[in-house]
Amino acid sequence: MSEAAASPRKRLFIRSWGCQMNVYDSGRMADVLAPLGYGPAEGPDAADMVILNTCHIREKASEKLFSELGRLRALKREKEAAGGRMVLAVAGCVAQAEGAEITARAPWVDIVLGPQTYHRLPEMVARASRAAGAVIDTDFPAEAKFDRLPEASAAPQGVTAFLTVQEGCDKFCSFCVVPYTRGAEYSRPAAPVLAEARRLVAQGAREITLLGQNVNAYHGDAPGGGRTWGLGRLLRALAEIPGLERLRYTTSHPRDVDDELVAAHRDLPQLMPFLHLPVQSGSDRVLAAMNRGHTAADFLSVAERLRAARPDLALSSDFIVGHPGERAADFDATLALVREVGFALAYSFKYSPRPGTPAASAPNQVPEAEKDARLQALQALLRDQQEAFNRSLVGRTIPVLVTGTGRHHGQVAGRSPWLNPVHLSASDALIGEVVPVAVLAAHTNSLSGALAAGTATEPPSQRREEPAPA
Ligand code: 5AD
Ligand code: SF4
Repeated sequence: MSEAAASPRKRLFIRSWGCQMNVYDSGRMADVLAPLGYGPAEGPDAADMVILNTCHIREKASEKLFSELGRLRALKREKEAAGGRMVLAVAGCVAQAEGAEITARAPWVDIVLGPQTYHRLPEMVARASRAAGAVIDTDFPAEAKFDRLPEASAAPQGVTAFLTVQEGCDKFCSFCVVPYTRGAEYSRPAAPVLAEARRLVAQGAREITLLGQNVNAYHGDAPGGGRTWGLGRLLRALAEIPGLERLRYTTSHPRDVDDELVAAHRDLPQLMPFLHLPVQSGSDRVLAAMNRGHTAADFLSVAERLRAARPDLALSSDFIVGHPGERAADFDATLALVREVGFALAYSFKYSPRPGTPAASAPNQVPEAEKDARLQALQALLRDQQEAFNRSLVGRTIPVLVTGTGRHHGQVAGRSPWLNPVHLSASDALIGEVVPVAVLAAHTNSLSGALAAGTATEPPSQRREEPAPA
């Protein structure tokens, strides 16, 4: 650890909205600023620099940002009146999409940077302290960001860690801003990914979630050259790292589930039996309008292949209701798909037009009231399935990775193979261990249980009794 990181001279506060990729990016921004003497601040009041890491995926992103910027303007003025200084930066996808508008509407912002230029932050901070106006960097630079970011993480992520392996997307779904804000698909070479995973494990990580907007489109350079590696191959190599008990990856596209990935689910006990696989709609008409490149039947067949490979696999998904052109019969097809697949967890959203995307200018927008009604109906069904899945775990003994202390004294918190938060009474000496837990009760979003004497520390795929997916 550098001296600057050991005794920070300046304080940095980062607020992150949106996806896990943003949480990961915030960590990397802290990493690049640590050599400049920035250490973590508890909140914006104590900070010499504030970064707002924004998300543009759904509605109200810019309103949220501007109201936060209003509050920070007052704070910045107070600091300046007292002879101090606060550098204010806006990062992430709203910065990428609306950079010019941000500096026009909030001229007190010092730095606007897109997701591809975090490695240039130190230079931007230096320029901002010299320049009068804002420094804007929303390029898609030729030099890969990952090659320029420092290796060591200033702050260990803990028992569960994220690792970005892929960024960007070339799929251009009709409704989505990601291809515009995150740029073209890019995969990191396998060697630095493996090195970063080993470092995370050395720092205490027991579970790593590989991140990418289209993570299963991963095709990184193989270590030592040769053919590129797909995600299945990468997972196999990661599974060989001693001490790395659990692997996950998110977010996947149904079109990119290849045989190698299905085989990884079959063969790797470390690969958890839970997969987030957004389907968005169950209607072929709407899926075509969305430019998803697959039908409902394709999705069902992917789900079947995965479950054949790993019978205890549970699926989670994303849905959009009220995409332009969605009729009542299309929505019924979505409900039918949900009933047929059975999801352990799902996120559902009303379609929200994103400026610049094809669906935003489509003529056949669905009335708001109709979207509301469909969302309610879908969420009721999904909630029932989630509760049924959680109830199916009651009475079973499952392996739980203990991740931290619980809400009450003598309690710890952990997570099940299916990503359920689990609460139990146990010593915090167990943090970082996979322990057998008898599930006593299921709630909508979590489970409670008790330490069990038993065999659940053996790899989940070798347990005889598997919970049935909902
Ligand atoms: N409107 C509503 N939901 C959206 N999503 C992405 N773009 C939009 C939009 N314009 C949802 C999709 C995606 C998830 C991350 O957010 O379901 O899978
Ligand atoms: Fe957006 Fe995912 Fe479609 Fe890419 S595949 S455009 S990230 S919804």
